Amino acid sequence: MTTYSELTKKIEYQHNHLAKKLDQLEAAIDKRSNGEAISEVLNAMTQYITEHFELEENAMKMANYKHYERHREAHLDFLRKTAEFCTHSSPNWEKPSSEITQFLRNWLTDHVAVEDREMIQCLEKFSEQPKKWGKPGKP
Ligand SMILES: [Fe+2]
Repeated sequence: MTTYSELTKKIEYQHNHLAKKLDQLEAAIDKRSNGEAISEVLNAMTQYITEHFELEENAMKMANYKHYERHREAHLDFLRKTAEFCTHSSPNWEKPSSEITQFLRNWLTDHVAVEDREMIQCLEKFSEQPKKWGKPGKP
C-alpha cells in the first residue's frame, strides 16, 4: 500500500526525470539528429508524460482534490497541443527547430511551479496523517 508521502515523492521524482528527458530531446535537436531519432525521443517523452499525468490524476481523485477537473483539463490541453505540434512539425524534422522544446519546457515549468505545487501541498496535508493511500480523510 502506498502512502500519500510516498506518492508525493514519486510525483516529484518524475518531475525531475521529466527535466532530464527534456534535456535529451534538446540534445537530439542540437546534434541535428535525424527526424526518426528525434521522433523516438519525443515519443518516449510523451509516453512518460501521459503516465505521469495518470499518476497525478489518480492521486487527486483519491484525495478528493477540489481542483481536480481544472488540473485534468490542463493536462488534456497540453497533450492536445503537443499532438498538434508533432503533427505540424514532423514533416520538418529534418530541419528540427527548438520550438517544440521551448513549448514543452515553458509549459512544464509553469505547470509544475503553480498547479502541481498546489496539488502537492494538498497531498502533503494527507501525508501528515497516518492514513494510507486509498483511504483519504479530510486534510
Ligand atoms: Fe499536473
